[in-house]
Formats: sequence, structure tokens, C-alpha cells
Amino acid sequence: MSEVVLAYSGGLDTSVCIPLLRERYGFDKVVTVLVDVGQPRSDIERGNLRAKQLADEHYTIDAREEFVKTCLFPLIKANGSYEGYVLGTAIARPLIASKAVQIAKQKGIKNLAHGCTGRGNDQLRFEAIFRATDCRVIAPMRELDLAREWEIDYAREHGIDVPVTKDKPWSIDENIWSRSIEGGKLEDPYFEPPEEIYGWTKTPRGDRAPQIVEIGFELGIPVSLDGVRMGGLELIEKLNRIGGEHGVGRTDMVEDRVLGLKARENYEHPAATILLAAHKDLEHLVLSRAELKFKIMVDEAWSEMVYMGLVEDPLYADLNAFVDQSQKRVNGSVKMKLYCGNALSVGRQSPDALYAQDMVSFDSQTLSQKDAEGFAKYHGFQARLLRRKGI
Ligand code: ARG
Repeated sequence: MSEVVLAYSGGLDTSVCIPLLRERYGFDKVVTVLVDVGQPRSDIERGNLRAKQLADEHYTIDAREEFVKTCLFPLIKANGSYEGYVLGTAIARPLIASKAVQIAKQKGIKNLAHGCTGRGNDQLRFEAIFRATDCRVIAPMRELDLAREWEIDYAREHGIDVPVTKDKPWSIDENIWSRSIEGGKLEDPYFEPPEEIYGWTKTPRGDRAPQIVEIGFELGIPVSLDGVRMGGLELIEKLNRIGGEHGVGRTDMVEDRVLGLKARENYEHPAATILLAAHKDLEHLVLSRAELKFKIMVDEAWSEMVYMGLVEDPLYADLNAFVDQSQKRVNGSVKMKLYCGNALSVGRQSPDALYAQDMVSFDSQTLSQKDAEGFAKYHGFQARLLRRKGI
């Protein structure tokens, strides 16, 4: 009997994949794996229902805690961002793929499928994990080159009640870190997104009173909100709700995909915006100038690896080792003011601050200002040497 494990989300593409794997590829048994990385409960329930109706065997794996600990904490420490995108989808894909691999291994199944198209990044992220096994990889969406309209009709013929209609054809990918909205009219980069695409954030409004939240960090990881210690999952969920009320964390951008295509992308990510801003701010209080300057390069390299889904490349572990070492002094707290779509740091403190108020203060006598004179004489020295030569 030929069997296949499909990484399943419950959305249009992966739902259509189930009958396609039987009808077009001749598989007798389709095993679906739905990984919970914090997408809405209703998506998971719908996925479970669809799978029950369509698949031969179905697994739902709650990977939320693992996602926070093994993916999002490292992301926060590395200020993960690709061209301004907080990497929500990208960071979750390898974890989802690895859960499908796990089920395939357990069941001795040698075929792995995903529902990604041949235009995006997700195919690469899934396959970087899938192809590390000796399984055959099947990508029906890419191989059959199906148009969205055709898929919707095919889905209906197979009794799949997919949550997409031809008038609102958004492709949404959601996990606790971000919500991504693509497709339909948004594909015109000049078209202003309608409010209806947003699900996590309210329209930013100046008449809503500002709100301050205090984020506590230990070793670069957020550990408390307003002085109350809590786990990462709870903290992120809370910040998404609070930030969303203030319209914090919307991104509308043109993104360079790995293949080279530019794509118009819309994202919502209130907690990510708040936590990344707070974390960077705290780093500026505690890290040396040389560390900060170098870490920007590491953060960028880290983000690119994650964007490309290359988390199994040894460089990813190397970069994480550097990042972890750099976070030893990233302890303290940051006050963030949420107001009208913005999250601004308005105060920071740390037991490990490099900041020396006694020296920097206008009122300070600790340093002799005269000592700076010799330093100042040599500052810009080469430019003056050249000018003297008339060059
Ligand atoms: N452009 C983003 C990325 O490559 C998001 C892709 C999300 N996919 C979606 N169907 N909305 O990570």
C-alpha cells in the first residue's frame, strides 16, 4: 500500500491536496499532520473536521510551547527581522515540517507532501527539512500548477467547505508570532489594504489613551509583563491582545523572496513589534558599542538563514552560539508606550547596564572634561592632514 504524510493546515491548498494525492498520485492512504503553533482555535477545529472527512488518518500536534522556546526565544535574542518582516511564517515552517517527518518515521512512511506553491519561500523551508530524510517529496500545488480559481471549484466538487471565496481570496498564515495576509487585490502593491484584512489589530486611533507596559528580560528572553512573571506563550498572547487594541504591529511591504520574486506582503504582529523594540532597547543599555555593531551583522545573517529555512545549516547553530553568549547581560526591564499604532520605549533599567549616570551627567564632576582635549585634537586628524596638503 502506498502511503503519504501531508503537512496539513486545514486551509484551501492543503485540503485540496488530500484528494489530489489519491486521484493524481495514486496514494491509497493519506495521513495528515496538523501542527498547532498558535493559529486560531477555529482554524485547528476546522482542520480537524476537514481531515476527519477527507484523510485516512490524522494527527494534531500541539507545538506551541516548543515553538516559543526553540524558535521565538532565539528570534527575540537575535532581533529577527528580514527586510522589516518579523519572520513569523518563516520561523514556524521547519518545526511544522519536522513534526510531519516525525510521524512519517514513526509509521515507516516514505512519502512526504506539502501544499506550497512553486512561487513562494515555504516550499524551500519545508523541503530543507523533508529532503534531509530518504523520503520522496511531493508538492502537488507546485507540480500540478493549479490556479486558485480552479482549486476553489475542485474543493467544492469534493465537498470541501474551504474558508475562502472568490471575492475575498486572502491567503492567511497565522501563528502566535504573526499573521500574514497575501493575495487578491493586495497583489497590486499600490492598492491600499482594506481594514477587513486585519484580524489582530484595531485601526490606530489618536483618541485612544496611551498605555504603558513593562517587559522584564532575563538573558535576552522576556520573562515578565508589568512585574508579573509568566511563560513566553502567555506573555506573547497577552501582548498581542494589548498591542492589537492600540493598532500596534502592522507591516505593509514589498519583500524579496528567496527565488528573487518581489512580493507585496501584509503582516500583523503586535507582540513581536513590542518585544523586538524592547529587546533592542535593552541591548543598547547593556552591550558595548563594539558588541552592538558586530551583533547587527550576526542578527542579519541569522534572519536570512531563518527566512530561507536553512536552520539545519551549521551556520545557524554557530550564529545562535554567538547570540546566546551576547545575551548574558541582557537582563532588566523596558517600559513601552503603546499609542496610535506605535510602540515606543520610554524607559529602561538593568542591573548590568553599561550606562554610567555619574559620568555622563551634565552635573557630574567624576570625569575631568579637560582630559578629552587631547582626544579631540586627534579626532578627524587625517581629514585635516589632507586639507593641509591641499588635496
Ligand atoms: N512572505 C512570508 C514568508 O515568506 C509569508 C508567507 C505566508 N504565506 C501565506 N500563505 N500567507 O515567510
